[in-house]
Amino acid sequence: MPHQCPTPIRLLILISGRGSNMQAIVQAVRSEGLSAEICAVISNRADAQGLAWAHDQGIATLSLSHRDYESREAFDRALIERIDVLAPDYILLAGFMRVLSPVFVAHFDGRIVNIHPSLLPAFPGLHTHEQALAVGVQWHGCTVHFVTPVLDHGPIIAQGAIPVLAQDTPGALAKRLLPIEHHVYTEVVRWLSERRVSLDTQGRVQVQGVDRRAFT
Ligand code: GRF
Repeated sequence: MPHQCPTPIRLLILISGRGSNMQAIVQAVRSEGLSAEICAVISNRADAQGLAWAHDQGIATLSLSHRDYESREAFDRALIERIDVLAPDYILLAGFMRVLSPVFVAHFDGRIVNIHPSLLPAFPGLHTHEQALAVGVQWHGCTVHFVTPVLDHGPIIAQGAIPVLAQDTPGALAKRLLPIEHHVYTEVVRWLSERRVSLDTQGRVQVQGVDRRAFT
């Protein structure tokens, strides 16, 4: 039985580009009646495709270019200011191509969630599909995790896995993984909206009432 939650959680989504994960989340919130509200979509690139989509959906959008700030921290502080007025419960990184400073991570401690296109802790950083093919793993996937100051690291909330096929290219892997990413991220948003997600005493994620296993 899903938990009934009287107060919808407030979600703020950060993107840099296409925004297909963001779209999947928005659509899940709307079509599945999740107890969640998207308070804004913010991009560090004004030309992000996802920003125009969100705007067309009637969602508050903002573009804040990192180029207008002299340092990573100055940009992050400006972002913190914009986000704080919106008072989100969670900040969802969905293809946000910026490394967040410790200041930002500490400010929203335990409330930042990211999706990374690999089975962490394997293949942090960029070009994850190339990295997977280069070492010949037989399973690849994606990870939704809480963000810590260490890049692509932090308590794992959910993973999705796909087999690597003999003929796979980085592009083919990315394409096959994308719908799994959407599925995993929207399930995590559902769990967050039902307030089932917590950390145990060892800092691992527990999802109340859910027997977690990788999505395939
Ligand atoms: C996804 O593969 C996500 O895992 C990674 O960046 C990509 C963003 O795609 N962090 P989209 O913008 O959500 O379509």
